[in-house]
Amino acid sequence: MFRATRFVLALVLGLALVTWAASVLVQRSMAGWFERDLALRARLAVNSSRLAILSELAQEQPRQLRAVLSELVHDERIMGVALCAPDGRPLARTKEFPQELDCGEFDARSRASSDAMAEASGSWTSVESLPGGSVHVSVIPVLDGNEARGFVILVQDLSFVGRRERATQRFLGLAFGFLALSASVVTIIAARLAWRGWSKQLREFLKGGPQRPEFQPIMGDVRALVDRLVAETEADREAGSWTPDRLKHTLNRHLHGEKVVIVANREPYIHERAENGDKIAVRHPASGLVTALEPVLRACSGSWIAHGSGSADRETADRAGRIRVPPGEESYSLRRIWLTPEEEQGYYYGFANEGLWPLCHITHVRPIFRSEDWSAYSVVNRRFADALCEEVDSEDPIVLVQDYHFALLPRLVRERLPRSTVIMFWHIPWPNAQSFGICPWRKDLLDGMLGASILGFHTQFDCNNFLDAADRFLESRIDREQNAVIQRGHTTLVRPYPISLEWPVHWLRSTPPVDECRKSVFEELRLSPDALLGVGVDRLDYTKGVEERLLAVERLLETSPDFRGRFTFVQLAAPSRTIIERYRLLNENVERLAARINGRFSRGDYRPVVLLRAHHEPPDVYRYYRAADLCCVTSLHDGMNLVAKEFVAARDDERGVLVLSQFTGAARELTEALIVNPYDLDETSSALAAALDMSRDEQRERMRSMRALVSDLNVYRWAGRMLVDAARLRRRDRLTGRLSDHLAFGTGRT
Ligand code: F6P
Repeated sequence: MFRATRFVLALVLGLALVTWAASVLVQRSMAGWFERDLALRARLAVNSSRLAILSELAQEQPRQLRAVLSELVHDERIMGVALCAPDGRPLARTKEFPQELDCGEFDARSRASSDAMAEASGSWTSVESLPGGSVHVSVIPVLDGNEARGFVILVQDLSFVGRRERATQRFLGLAFGFLALSASVVTIIAARLAWRGWSKQLREFLKGGPQRPEFQPIMGDVRALVDRLVAETEADREAGSWTPDRLKHTLNRHLHGEKVVIVANREPYIHERAENGDKIAVRHPASGLVTALEPVLRACSGSWIAHGSGSADRETADRAGRIRVPPGEESYSLRRIWLTPEEEQGYYYGFANEGLWPLCHITHVRPIFRSEDWSAYSVVNRRFADALCEEVDSEDPIVLVQDYHFALLPRLVRERLPRSTVIMFWHIPWPNAQSFGICPWRKDLLDGMLGASILGFHTQFDCNNFLDAADRFLESRIDREQNAVIQRGHTTLVRPYPISLEWPVHWLRSTPPVDECRKSVFEELRLSPDALLGVGVDRLDYTKGVEERLLAVERLLETSPDFRGRFTFVQLAAPSRTIIERYRLLNENVERLAARINGRFSRGDYRPVVLLRAHHEPPDVYRYYRAADLCCVTSLHDGMNLVAKEFVAARDDERGVLVLSQFTGAARELTEALIVNPYDLDETSSALAAALDMSRDEQRERMRSMRALVSDLNVYRWAGRMLVDAARLRRRDRLTGRLSDHLAFGTGRT
């Protein structure tokens, strides 16, 4: 269809060009014809009066000259005529002859350029511009035998030429429009018929119909694709849905139980000493990355290498920084890396979160790039690479590098362990090449990432942006068919793997039923039982659109007074990166905004906005999800956003409505949510109203469909697909490795 549109556009453009060229040509030819026609008419007119003029000139006192000349102006296009003596003196002129023209000037012009202008007869023509418009002037000698007895200046009106040209243009324009319209309609009909015929023939051919030579070149590809789809579907159907056991089994079958090592900045368990100093508590960070990956490592076992950021992390780990987790159900090892305050400042707050974070999220926050931050980022990447080499137990480990904190790590690992399989997953969006290009270290980042065997993003859109950046900034080859970048002989597959949650979510095992959650949350917030509750759960980050969300709540209360006193919005806001100025500003703005809305709409005990600015542990977060009538996710740009999926996972009662920003990766999957543009406050507030008014049946239908999707496309599938792809690559690399050893042996090289 796209091609057909392009074809029609090209056709219309071509026709427009041809019409334009034709109109220029026609106008030029017409102007030539008209001029020749006028010159001829003038000569004929003067010739017909020649004898009368000569006979008048023969008189001593010619009295009828003006009358003879007046005879000539009966033709409506002839404006005036003058008769001049051979020496340029005026002899007679008609009344309408233009004052601006005179015999002397034309006599002088005849003499000055007689060769250039005159015809054999001695006549010549010109076009003169007069105040009333252009006129055509013919200068014609009055010959008596070979002797010129004077000359006539005959002036003709040219305005009709302009009129004719305009009429011609109108006609050509209409003809072009008609032609273009007919050509487009005919092309579209022809394309549709051809497409229908072509797909029918292809279908017949694939079902074993008559052989068609034109399909032969693509048959190999079609069959391979069909075989692959059939094999994948069958394997999926046989194996059922993805579970921890299936993931473990996949790892054993495809990767012979290799140990998986995850490198991520954030650790899944943070040990914090209480402020009074006598108790150590385990905190689960507010991080989509941890939410998704922790269940994967629990299923696969292996190691997680992360920054040890808790106040009691050192004392709870061994001398090498290792500790077995999860606490009480130990199944994998967490290796903590200790960073100096300067390293943390430059690597985490500086380059990762003031540089790369705003660079990758299109939220109009200017990235800050400092060379000292870049140095710290490079140093810390090397330190993690060193730690990784200490954690692996083979020459070809499977390493999962996570996120924008470690763009240089894949290359560093490849240099130290050339046979490793490195999967890098980028949890945040990847910007278009032009935006990415402002980073002074764009080449180093791309080159670092291309040390990976597989590079994963949430969406195909992010993959395409990455491929474009590699194409634009690096000496590399892009294989669009395979979605791969080939650089110095090394291939990196670039694939979309939309991240998800474990299913079922283990936190829900200990979360009370929905009714109880609603009761306890309503009591805490002092809401009446018939109140309506909306919830937002975020790290306080400017990409999450918390300000826009509160403004939409304010707009709802302004435009729908019915909800005043009934609807309360509770925002669970985990403080995040508060050392950075932009985040401090956000905290203040959100606080101010909540106070303003409450100032406007609070009545008695009723407060429309409850801002809970604190870290909430997952069981508490799930209690709020289950208590709410709606959950609002209004990110201005977000790789996936797992809050949306968590809300869906929490609602086993099939109630509650999800209002979801169109700028999240999740919006591509959770299409039954009410999808909004968070920059459009009217749209978001209308969606809030629609959610609060939605019937139970509709809520059930939407929630059921979203739950089916999240349970199917869970995080075990996400990890499984990446690991299966990695296994295929390893097999291929081993085979090609063996083959090249074999060839080297055969040729005497070893
Ligand atoms: O979105 C990227 C990400 O790494 C997520 O995994 C997580 O939600 C967030 O950033 C965590 O931020 P931080 O680790 O800086 O607190």
